[in-house]
Amino acid sequence: MYKIEIWKDNTTKIIETIEDWCSGDKISKKLNLSRTSVWKIISKLKSMGYVIEARKGKGYKLISKPEISIYEIASILKKNNVNLVREIYYFKEIDSTNEFAKKIGRANALIFAETQTAGKGRLGRRWFSDYGGLYFSITLKPNLSIENIPKITLTSGLAVCEALNELKLNARIKWPNDVLIDGKKVCGILCEIVGEINALLTIVGIGINVKNRIPKELEDKAVSISQIKETKLSDVFEKTIKKFDFYYNRLLEGEWDRIKKRWIEKSDTIGKKVLIKIGGKEYSGKALSIDEDGGLILDNGTKIFSGECFYN
Ligand code: BTN
Repeated sequence: MYKIEIWKDNTTKIIETIEDWCSGDKISKKLNLSRTSVWKIISKLKSMGYVIEARKGKGYKLISKPEISIYEIASILKKNNVNLVREIYYFKEIDSTNEFAKKIGRANALIFAETQTAGKGRLGRRWFSDYGGLYFSITLKPNLSIENIPKITLTSGLAVCEALNELKLNARIKWPNDVLIDGKKVCGILCEIVGEINALLTIVGIGINVKNRIPKELEDKAVSISQIKETKLSDVFEKTIKKFDFYYNRLLEGEWDRIKKRWIEKSDTIGKKVLIKIGGKEYSGKALSIDEDGGLILDNGTKIFSGECFYN
């Protein structure tokens, strides 16, 4: 496991400094580090897949970066001013980033894993998490009353949907927060709430099929972005976290109406006949809208906040 506090981290500062040639001496003066520390950080970066050229008289220059790494994530967050995240935990392998998030118990952490051995889906299901996908959780302590928490779920789905549409993927949202491309699931979101009533921690776990293998039994239901177009994990992550930060801040600023309007525009569910199953109960009807509380309204007046949605 790697951990960094992004706004205090020297390694990302070195990466930024060597985007063009820079001598070891200049780096150490600029960042107030010893030459040995600079050398150690450069060696660590090389061991992580960063290609750095070193030349006598010129110093160091970054030639290429790994597709994703803790520092790549930190650079993306810094570049886009995503103040929502203060610390990053990066795992090659973990059981579940949502479960780890619960153990941290603090807000403003991002937990990222290359693969999960016990990825959790909604309604007690498993989330297949082979290498090549994006699996991360964000911990939040929003200044919102508990009735407003379902809105975070819908807001997260909208953020991912719009991020994928920036990649021209024509994504839609299936209520409550599955993101689909051509009717197949490309992203799942698991929001969980833990802690005492006065100190609730909300965990938003996002899984996006980017270039991971889709298990045979799910081939007709799920899709990876790589089946449609080639993309880099870092691009999908950057677009998603920017949109998430944007919409989350709009939600905190009371702009739910704007989010709701966009959600409805991107919805695959509104206007369709649905069957919703939740806790042994079933509700069916035509999905009409999302209301001011974030509930799904059916044409027979039923209002539902969560469940499994089937089209019929
Ligand atoms: C769903 O069933 O649609 C929700 C899937 C959520 C998967 C993500 S992957 C990152 C985070 N960690 C988990 O264990 N689950 C969520």
